[in-house]
Amino acid sequence: MSNSSPTSHAKLNAWVNEIASLVEPSSVYWCNGSKEEYDEMVKILVDAGLATPLKKREHSYLFRSDPSDVARVESRTYIASKSKEDAGPTNNWIDPAELKKTMTDLYKGCMHGRTLYVIPFSMGPIGSPIAKIGVEISDSPYVVINMYIMARIGSKVLDVLGTDGEFVPCLHSIGKPLAEGESDNGKWPCAPLDKKYIAHFPEDKTIWSYGSGYGGNALLGKKCLALRIASIIARNEGWLAEHMLILKITRESDSKVKYIAAAFPSACGKTNLAMLIPTIPGWKVETVGDDIAWMRPGKDGKLYAINPEAGFFGVAPGTSMHSNPNAMHSIEKNTIFTNVALTEDGDVWWEEIGYDAPGKLIDWKGNEWIQDKGNKEQPPAAHGNSRFTAPAKQCPAIAKEFEDLGGVPIDAILFGGRRPSTIPLVHEAKNWNHGVFMGSIVGSEITSAALDLKVGEIRRDPFAMLPFCGYHMGDYFNHWIELGKKIPEASQPKFFFVNWFRKKDGKFAWPGYGENSRVLKWIFEQCDGSGKSVDTPIGLMPDAASFDKPESVSADVLKEILSVDVEGWKKEIADIRANHYPKFGDKLPQALKDELAAIEKRLG
Ligand code: GTP
Ligand code: SPV
Ligand code: MN
Repeated sequence: MSNSSPTSHAKLNAWVNEIASLVEPSSVYWCNGSKEEYDEMVKILVDAGLATPLKKREHSYLFRSDPSDVARVESRTYIASKSKEDAGPTNNWIDPAELKKTMTDLYKGCMHGRTLYVIPFSMGPIGSPIAKIGVEISDSPYVVINMYIMARIGSKVLDVLGTDGEFVPCLHSIGKPLAEGESDNGKWPCAPLDKKYIAHFPEDKTIWSYGSGYGGNALLGKKCLALRIASIIARNEGWLAEHMLILKITRESDSKVKYIAAAFPSACGKTNLAMLIPTIPGWKVETVGDDIAWMRPGKDGKLYAINPEAGFFGVAPGTSMHSNPNAMHSIEKNTIFTNVALTEDGDVWWEEIGYDAPGKLIDWKGNEWIQDKGNKEQPPAAHGNSRFTAPAKQCPAIAKEFEDLGGVPIDAILFGGRRPSTIPLVHEAKNWNHGVFMGSIVGSEITSAALDLKVGEIRRDPFAMLPFCGYHMGDYFNHWIELGKKIPEASQPKFFFVNWFRKKDGKFAWPGYGENSRVLKWIFEQCDGSGKSVDTPIGLMPDAASFDKPESVSADVLKEILSVDVEGWKKEIADIRANHYPKFGDKLPQALKDELAAIEKRLG
């Protein structure tokens, strides 16, 4: 495929020409964002043996990536600010001049035998004053079709850009040039781990990614632009770019509505909470976003949030008609599946999809796989981080506010993570700074969403932003503290900490999913002023006796997960004091030190 530039944006044309002469593609193609174009990309991918059309799902395709390229690679992700101090203690750093030199050498001729696609995209509805425009150059048609679903792409974006509009240049290559006559021939193209780089240059607001075709490494609008680069812009401009879902909850008896944002680390339940179907009558939840929220104070002082994305890049395993029917309906058609298993009749299957594997499958590695329920050691048929890419508009629960240009006013902000012990089902912060403290200490068992980390180990993931904050995390905490001072108390959201993942005797103590609506109900009532709570050393908590208990949880277990584990919390606080907070040195805000001292004192 090839065409000539449809824009007279001089800077954009110059950048595309400069990159083309570096990477030496066999052709250049500017994406217009049409459905026909999408189908042409799919045809290229099917012909290359990379995509399998799914007979059972209209207009949907399966991809199997390389085992070295199945998730984000945090150890190869860099914030290359001029000063190392600006990247802070939680980001990998290389001097930008040195990194550009290394990567320029890798980019030389890296698109031989391939087409260079130019993908103009908008994060946020096209033309919204809050939206940010990026242009991704990529040699992967898989990236093009994913960007088509996840962002708004094509000619309409170029129209908004005009002849001199601002854009974030995002350069991406899978790092696998083709020799004369060579084709991918069914093998997912990428570079080896030690050649992969996901680099951010904050001073030039530029993204360079090399060697990976997967998810957040390659769909550069998502984690790279909408979180890492946007978090830097947000700090400078006084707003927030967060790894948060946004949901709308309605109490049907009086049609009262609250909007809730929630930050949980990767694969810890954002998509599921955003699409929740309440198990309690009289409540309705609708989805505004499932992964990223951009929030800024509005004229009335409240924080207004938009979802900059247009689709869901959701975790497949665990998604079922029981756990998340709205997600299951969202992926009935027009969906890309990556690294799930294939059934003989041309459908997808994954662990915990809600029914046994129907006969012989092809697993995510491309091998025959027959379910052996007696064998606990059997490797899974779908990779733990296998995902679906689906248009948000296909979600039956999508809120009508999904594309509201001004965003929705946030009443509550939730933090959470996978914590088998200590952290109760829910507790509420006493005020803004206590809420920021809660965000700063988020911890979770590591999931499969990153390739190079030990699954299951608990690590601190402040605000669920550890892999996504584009600058010094101490400055980030401070930005949150300072923003609170600008919002009148009456307009501030309330902060809550939730934990769906407490374990008892090796099993989850809380049923989760739709039953989480009971916790949302309490949160709603706390925001509304009608909730009942008890004051504890760690914050406000529901009174177990009056809490709307699910049948499957005994009164004793409920009491246990709704009480303060004083010894556990003392250990938690000691760990924060000894191992977590010292990382931020003198950038740690005094307000957080004060919160730590106060909770320590209250615990006795
Ligand atoms: P990213 O897209 O990686 O940012 O993840 P996410 O936070 O959107 O996670 P998601 O909702 O996709 O959930 C990841 C996994 O957690 C899935 O396997 C879910 O089945 C599981 N999960 C989600 N909510 C719950 C819950 O309430 N209880 C339990 N036990 N598991 C849950
Ligand atoms: C995450 O890891 O938090 C994701 C998936 O949402 S990815 O886009 O690959 O980062
Ligand atoms: Mn995420």
